[in-house]
Amino acid sequence: MQFDLKTTDPKSKARAGVITTDHGTIETPIFMPVGTVGTVKGVHQSELKNEINPDIILGNTYHLYLRPKLDTLEKAGGLHKFMNWDRNILTDSGGYQVYSLSGRRKIKEEGVKFKSHIDGSTHFFSPENVMETQRTIGADIIMAFDECTPYPCDYNYAKRSMHMTHRWLNRCINHLEKLPYKYGYEQTFMPIVQGSTYKDLRKQSAEYIANTNQQANAIGGLSVGEPAEEMYAMTEVVTAILPEDKPRYLMGVGTPINILENITLGIDMFDCVMPTRNARNGMLFTAHGSINIKNKKWEQDFSPIDEMGITWVDTMYSKAYLRHLFAAKEMLGKQIASIHNLGFYLWLTREARKHILAGDFAEWKDKMVKQMDNRL
Ligand code: GUN
Repeated sequence: MQFDLKTTDPKSKARAGVITTDHGTIETPIFMPVGTVGTVKGVHQSELKNEINPDIILGNTYHLYLRPKLDTLEKAGGLHKFMNWDRNILTDSGGYQVYSLSGRRKIKEEGVKFKSHIDGSTHFFSPENVMETQRTIGADIIMAFDECTPYPCDYNYAKRSMHMTHRWLNRCINHLEKLPYKYGYEQTFMPIVQGSTYKDLRKQSAEYIANTNQQANAIGGLSVGEPAEEMYAMTEVVTAILPEDKPRYLMGVGTPINILENITLGIDMFDCVMPTRNARNGMLFTAHGSINIKNKKWEQDFSPIDEMGITWVDTMYSKAYLRHLFAAKEMLGKQIASIHNLGFYLWLTREARKHILAGDFAEWKDKMVKQMDNRL
């Protein structure tokens, strides 16, 4: 993997760059649509490629390991071939998903024992077997196995957990050295900074992660319920330490406003279920604020879903029609809303990049944050 930093904004830490892997280039800042089980929910590949047009999507180790399982993925020749996606894929390690299974998992130094959400069967993830699993899935970027602490989290737990994440990181790195690539293309490994909402722990973790000298770095344990200001404070501490010449990925973030604020603080990559999950609940994001399309207010509003027309669905269908689809519980409603929201998120990061390159990012960002902080 190669990272070329093109520009840094003179008035903030926002950056524009290009990541190059064996599956093509990724222009940063980027939002990566989440494709948990090998599908960006409700979106055909043709719409994903031609309308939303992301350079990279996400997959999830936890879900793919449980279903379709590794032997199927290996026989298919990896996830790219299985789902017929020839651009980049990043897989999360399962660290986050396993911890979300509260009550169904036990964390120890050796690893995590958990029960499948599908059939209750017992499984074990360790830093070593998760690296093996990610080799088999075959994403271009693979994540360290970490513990994502909850919010709030007491200081002593956060500190102990952070040190365990660091020890697990060493185990991931040592084990990966013994595991050749499976499908003839390179995989880039990303370590993850933890430390909850404690500045001293975040600083210590960022220094530790930077010293492992990997090609890219991630920040985890945020957007887990803490106030946005605390999230930004943690990002700021960490991006001051992580090397400038490597991509920085903020995991699981966030709202359109969270994304712009974190780009300002020097983040290059984002992912979040919000655009697709909220779409399925009838919430649309636009440049002028969010819309609950289920509201009676839209019943006879025959104007386009979004005048901006970022994706074809925006001007093809009216608000009244989309509201009707939700009221009638038609699956097309969820599909239209998902395409709209993902199109908007990708537009937002693309626009941010344009403004960073043009040198007027700070002014544009202030205007957008005000505009988007609205319920229509
Ligand atoms: N996704 C969102 N937050 C996290 C995190 O802290 N760790 C991992 N592995 N994935 C995440």
